[in-house]
Amino acid sequence: MSQAQRLVDTISTQYLLKKHQEDKIRTLYDLCQNLSVGGKIVELGSYHGMSTCALCLSSTTEVYAIDDYSNKFGWAGEEYKESDLTVFNMRTKALGARPILINKDANLARKSLNLPISLIFWDLGVRNRLTMDFKLWQDLIIKGGMFAVHDLPTGILGSNMLRYIIDVEKIYGWQFVKEYPANIRVFVKNG
Ligand SMILES: C[S@@+](CC[C@H](N)C(=O)[O-])C[C@H]1O[C@@H](n2cnc3c(N)ncnc32)[C@H](O)[C@@H]1O
Repeated sequence: MSQAQRLVDTISTQYLLKKHQEDKIRTLYDLCQNLSVGGKIVELGSYHGMSTCALCLSSTTEVYAIDDYSNKFGWAGEEYKESDLTVFNMRTKALGARPILINKDANLARKSLNLPISLIFWDLGVRNRLTMDFKLWQDLIIKGGMFAVHDLPTGILGSNMLRYIIDVEKIYGWQFVKEYPANIRVFVKNG
């Protein structure tokens, strides 16, 4: 059995996983095997901690989990609640994951964090702030580091969204590398 499948099995002891969530875990496992040395992992949007656990259990790097845990709706109409934090705490603890939780709005979190980053996993469940977040965070990512985006529109349209942002904003040094399973697009900083 592969290491990635072992991870899926471990996480499934706390989460009732659908196929796309299993794919998400495998993808995050893969990304963690290719981290450039010297940076941390930052997750924007942690919810119940499933992806947080995948990141923590796949690497020895510190994982910063950012979520404001306020009542709101995501782009697909899904509801997020303050009580999601209780589930996050319970399940990450049960799986022995040790993220550094930053219970703040992503913008405020950026102001308090000034770290070298190897991987940002962007999963805020809202699409209209991707440009702003990319611009706010990208300068912290080290050479060879990744910005992985979950849930853009599928296919070329989604990949083009961030490519367009990078071109129009003249943010140099970034390259789209791959569309992974579970609708995760990965951009790498070469410069
Ligand atoms: C799609 S869910 C994250 C799913 C999680 N990454 C996983 O795979 O298990 C989105 C999360 O982003 C959080 N969120 C949305 N907007 C936010 C903001 N502006 N600042 C911080 N967290 C935010 C929500 O509270 C929600 O828990």
